[in-house]
Amino acid sequence: MNKTIAPSHNLAISGERLWDALMETAKIGATPKGGINRLTLTDLDRQVRDWFKTQAEKLGCTVAVDDMGAIYARRRGQRDVPPIALGSHLDTQPTGGKFDGTLGTLAALEVLRTLEAAGYETYAPIEIINWTNEEGSRFAPACIASGVFGGMFERDWAYAQTDRTGETFGKALEQIGYRGPERCGARKFSAFFELHIEQGPILEREGFEIGVVKGAQGVRWFDVSLTGRDAHAGTTPMVARRDALVGAARVVEAIDKIARAHPPDAVATVGVIEAISNSRNVVPGEAYFSIDLRHPSNDTLDVLENEIRAAIAGVVAEQKLDAKITKIWEQAPTPFNPRCIEAVRKAATLCGYSHRDISSGALHDAVYVARVAPAGMIFVPCKDGISHNEEEFSSQEQCAKGAQVLLQAVLDFDRQLAEGTARS
Ligand code: GLV
Ligand code: MN
Ligand code: MN
Repeated sequence: MNKTIAPSHNLAISGERLWDALMETAKIGATPKGGINRLTLTDLDRQVRDWFKTQAEKLGCTVAVDDMGAIYARRRGQRDVPPIALGSHLDTQPTGGKFDGTLGTLAALEVLRTLEAAGYETYAPIEIINWTNEEGSRFAPACIASGVFGGMFERDWAYAQTDRTGETFGKALEQIGYRGPERCGARKFSAFFELHIEQGPILEREGFEIGVVKGAQGVRWFDVSLTGRDAHAGTTPMVARRDALVGAARVVEAIDKIARAHPPDAVATVGVIEAISNSRNVVPGEAYFSIDLRHPSNDTLDVLENEIRAAIAGVVAEQKLDAKITKIWEQAPTPFNPRCIEAVRKAATLCGYSHRDISSGALHDAVYVARVAPAGMIFVPCKDGISHNEEEFSSQEQCAKGAQVLLQAVLDFDRQLAEGTARS
């Protein structure tokens, strides 16, 4: 054991300082309803990145940006071993809240501020990260930078992804000045920890302060285009129509039924739907919609996908349409690293917070980092389980507890690294 590493249980993060940072950054992209609209790679994203970078530099961190725009701010450790990394994302949904992603990124900053204020020297460097485009709202898929980092996506494929206006990810990244020189995925981590709001109702309903996240469920995303025939709304008899939007509506209904028939875990969502002609007196000859399908078991995902494909085939035959179904993204259910899970559980116990094991319904950057480094997550409750909503809320105390567990988990892992090295 390295003698210079002091016991850490009396190190306390500042809940107030963390809250101030959350409220300050919430002004960047603030919406009238109290949320944030800070889509990835917009000028607002640039502003919050600049803020994050400045704060990290003030702490004496070395800041680097990779070629996917991920920002890494490193505080030195006693040894030049791969850092313990922590962080999340600062981009939001168009009707996003103040906590999804921002909490994990700013809690990582708070951990560094706490260590710096205490003059605490860790064994390993500690690196805080802001990942690019976690949300996947402007550019699909979600978690695109951590996906490149984890070897799931090719960088140039990611650059070519377009938003709904046809702008590419690569061009948008250049435009905000955050395409760095370092190859994404080149760095190594000893571990990665991400704090996040639960985004669901379980912790609040059961009265737990902390969720020890054991893994994340699988996700599949599809783009579906249905094609019939554009026609005049006044002159085309109902029997002569090939209305793609009516077809889409029937499929939406069928998808909802399919997910409900696989309780309690199956969830399926059509979040985007468009009539391409989009004119009130044209029978829509072409319709587009997205499908987001999730379940903790890959086998059940296969069953759900097959049922959805069959439902689309049925509607297409009935409405005399053609269908093009593209699976644009697939992420298998991912278990987190047992040592990271244990570090989080021990940290929650040490802090005296009630905790339960939990599985993540949302996807997170930690899921992709888990492909290349030991990774784990901490959840805190959020009001009524609401997220991807401007009303999303976790209290100052709930956020502070999560950040304290994050700090303790990092220090626990750091001690393990120090002890392991001493033994070897
Ligand atoms: C990320 O926000 C997700 O869709 O799970
Ligand atoms: Mn998130
Ligand atoms: Mn989100």
